[in-house]
Formats: sequence, structure tokens, C-alpha cells
Amino acid sequence: MKDILILLAHPKLEDSRINNALLEAAKTLPNVRVHDLYDMYPDFNIDVVYEQEILFGHEVVIWQHPFYWYSAPPILKQWIDLVLEYNWAYGPNAFALREKTILNALTAGGSREVYCAEGRNHYTVSEFLRPFEQTARLCGMNYLPPFSVMGANKIKGDQIRQCQEEYINLLKWLSTSEADVIAKDSCQFINDLDIVKKGGQS
Ligand SMILES: Cc1cc2nc3c(=O)[nH]c(=O)nc-3n(C[C@H](O)[C@H](O)[C@H](O)COP(=O)(O)O)c2cc1C
Repeated sequence: MKDILILLAHPKLEDSRINNALLEAAKTLPNVRVHDLYDMYPDFNIDVVYEQEILFGHEVVIWQHPFYWYSAPPILKQWIDLVLEYNWAYGPNAFALREKTILNALTAGGSREVYCAEGRNHYTVSEFLRPFEQTARLCGMNYLPPFSVMGANKIKGDQIRQCQEEYINLLKWLSTSEADVIAKDSCQFINDLDIVKKGGQS
């Protein structure tokens, strides 16, 4: 079973409904470690060696965050800037992250409909995530389509429970080797895959 690292970037977790709900679900799985970046580094003073060590020990990495101004909260950028060092994460002598799997798991206030060429936001969520995708690629990582909870400020009750279930299905599936073969462009959101929507792995 693969070990999964959730790098959480939420500056106001105490006010969060959906990221907290997803975390609650994720924490039920023994092979998932949640690493809360704002809690650990309130001054943005990231311990690079420590971060590289825990990355090394996990085969799957998830950048979990609310969508803020079409991107992630700033500590995630700080983490990328500092932790993904030349000749460690990328460059001719960099092997540390190669072949690990990575994706964004995000929550967004906007609905699916507003994230397309004809919609209010003009671009798809995946288009907004291109810098994450290319960063992962440069490091030789296998970047998967995002897990996205859209309309996050409006959903409640059963819809939240459905998202929790999908997140657990995703995490269980990522724990297996089968998830490696999924093509990046096979779906807009990884939630759309039957294996994530309905489950299937024990
Ligand atoms: C500073 C800020 C920027 C935001 N930017 C976006 C955005 O660009 N697109 C969007 O769909 N929602 C945006 N939102 C809404 C958040 O994505 C939404 O409130 C959050 O995902 C809800 O998750 P939570 O309950 O875990 O906090 C923004 C919210 C804040 C506070």
C-alpha cells in the first residue's frame, strides 16, 4: 500500500467547512498523513530539510487547498519555492521526486459552469492549475487531474458527505498501483472517474 502525504494549505482552517470535512475523511485511513503547512509555519519559515525528508517517505503527494484568486493560498507557493530545490527536485542530478504521483485537491466557491471558455471565469480549473502541473512535470512527477469540490460555499449535508466519500475512494485508489496508469487528460476532474465516484477498492 502506498503512503500518501496531504500538504494542507488553508490559512483559516478554523472557519473551513469543506477542507475540514475532507480532512476528517482522510484521517480515517492509516496510510494518509496530513501535514498542515499554516499550522507548522505561521511565519512562512519553512524547514526545507524536514519537508524534503517527509516527501521522500511518501509515494503520493496531494496539494490540498481552497482555490484563492484562481490559485492556492500563498504558503503553498512558498513551499514550492523553497522545498523544490535545484538538483534535488529538478535538474540533471535530481531524482528525489521522480515517478511520485501528485495532484491538487481543491475546494472552490465557483460552480463547474463558471469555469469554462463561455463562463464567467473564462478558463477551466485545469487551465488555472497549469503552473502546478508543469512544476510537477519538471520534477518528473506523475500529475493527475484535480480532485475538486465546486460550489463549496453552498453545498451541505448529503452533498458534503458525498464529497467525503469520493475523497476516501480517491485516497484508497491512489494507495494502489492502478492509479499510476490514468492519463492526465482522461477527465476534467478526477472525481468524474467511476472508481472515485462509486469506489471499488477495499
Ligand atoms: C481570499 C479568497 C479568494 C478566493 N478566490 C476564489 C477563486 O478565485 N475562485 C473560487 O471559485 N473561489 C474563491 N474563493 C472561495 C473559496 O474557494 C471557498 O470559500 C473555499 O474553497 C471554501 O472551502 P472551506 O470551507 O474549506 O474554506 C475565495 C475565497 C477567499 C477567502
